[in-house]
Amino acid sequence: MSTPPASVAVIGGSGFYEFLDDATQVPVETPYGAPSADIAVGRVGGVSVAFLPRHGQGHAYPPHLINYRANLWALRSLGVRQVLAPCAVGGLLPSVAPGDVVVPDQLVDRTSGRIQTYVQTGAVHAPFADPYCDRLATALAAADPGVKRGGAMVVIEGPRFSTRAESQSYAAAGWSLVNMTGHPEAVLAREMRMCYSAIALVTDMDAGVESGEGVGQAEVFEMFAANIERLKGLLATVLADLPSPDGCACSSWADELELTYTIP
Ligand code: ADE
Repeated sequence: MSTPPASVAVIGGSGFYEFLDDATQVPVETPYGAPSADIAVGRVGGVSVAFLPRHGQGHAYPPHLINYRANLWALRSLGVRQVLAPCAVGGLLPSVAPGDVVVPDQLVDRTSGRIQTYVQTGAVHAPFADPYCDRLATALAAADPGVKRGGAMVVIEGPRFSTRAESQSYAAAGWSLVNMTGHPEAVLAREMRMCYSAIALVTDMDAGVESGEGVGQAEVFEMFAANIERLKGLLATVLADLPSPDGCACSSWADELELTYTIP
């Protein structure tokens, strides 16, 4: 059976497994190894959507061991041009609170040792001043007036949470969100010429902000699970009325360049 086409994908955290109707599981081989899982292609309302569980089935891959290159390449190989990426984040500033859904507009990379490019040779330097797709961000904010827009998400290596001093230093820098998976996902989507937006669910206030014992895994997972239906509702609304990716800067940056890697 041939693979059903999908031009939009959701890369989801745990709990999104039942997101699609009439899903077909599509195993994809990539030059970078296996993606986190087979890609499910199905429908949300009338829209064909690809879905990839970021951490694999049963949360097999912790943030630092996810094969981000294989994941983005696999989605692109199925025809995906727009990626919506829900993720759990800690809050760093009083402007955000647990339960908030935030579409950030900036990213700070504090990971270490993750492969963050498809470029192996030649001069290919993707523009990344604005790491997220403005069209998708506008559509998300329009889909739910409760969505907060803007702010910087700092991505740490993990899998441990931050110390209080680290957390306070991020807050002092003015960054509002902290997460472990947002990088290199966003930059690899850019190199694959796909539109990409993070959809950050604030699951906790990070160690430097709260006065308690610091962040624990249980509160992050519980809060994410408690808000899954809201995230699904937001996704269903935005998927029903997506802006076109045609001519978007997320793709057009490479129009005049000779890329030294293959976009499938
Ligand atoms: N994901 C959810 N909460 C987080 C936190 N406080 N730090 C890093 N990643 C997170």
